[in-house]
Amino acid sequence: MSNPLSPESVPDLDASSINPSGSQDDSAQTLTPSFWENRYQAGTARWDLGEAAPPFESLLAAADAPQPGRMLVLGMGRGHDALLFASHGFEVVGVDFAPSAVAAAAIAAQEQGLTAKFLQRDIFELADEFANGFDYVLEHTCFCAIAPAQRPAYAQLVHTLLRPGGQLIALFWAHNRPGGPPFGCDLEEIHDLFEPGFEVRSLDRPLNSVVSRQHEEYLARFPVKK
Ligand SMILES: C[S@@+](CC[C@H](N)C(=O)[O-])C[C@H]1O[C@@H](n2cnc3c(N)ncnc32)[C@H](O)[C@@H]1O
Repeated sequence: MSNPLSPESVPDLDASSINPSGSQDDSAQTLTPSFWENRYQAGTARWDLGEAAPPFESLLAAADAPQPGRMLVLGMGRGHDALLFASHGFEVVGVDFAPSAVAAAAIAAQEQGLTAKFLQRDIFELADEFANGFDYVLEHTCFCAIAPAQRPAYAQLVHTLLRPGGQLIALFWAHNRPGGPPFGCDLEEIHDLFEPGFEVRSLDRPLNSVVSRQHEEYLARFPVKK
């Protein structure tokens, strides 16, 4: 019997492969912690760049780089981006509900001699505990990993988590072609979701996206309106 999670048999992170029935009910597509955990355990975490996203490196090197503060990283995976910001003096808390991701991030922090806190939690259960708790929320391929029906709640969550004067820093992978990651989105949706609660300070295509995401990523800096 073939291993259902072998790299050869795991389909791309495409919503149609997650929900082959083609249901139009987005909430039915919500991905469970075990879906993600299985991908980490099987070595099929294809979204994992193995390093911080290059556009975040450039952002931190820019003249108007965000200044160190308290940062929450949503769905931080193995923690590459979280640790980049930690290495620049940010006080980082990363959250992911896949235990293997949390463990890998903690080990990476230890190996790199960096301080960061990694919590195994569902991001949608953070609002009460962490309301107004952060100067920054960092987003990188978590927005496209939750069901589209959860996106308004996601925008509200980020708004709640940020302090007045705080800012969402996001690298959105925005496309709607097949193959994932896993739920597509576009710029219009990003504007519609975030403009009510955030100022769109910048939303630009970076020049140094990894090859597989070139021309499809948008680096956002959205100060919260509070
Ligand atoms: C596509 S991966 C991206 C991981 C990481 N940001 C990166 O770029 O490598 C999406 C991550 O979000 C996590 N995730 C998805 N939904 C979540 C939720 N509701 N609460 C916590 N983590 C979640 C998954 O476990 C997974 O690690």
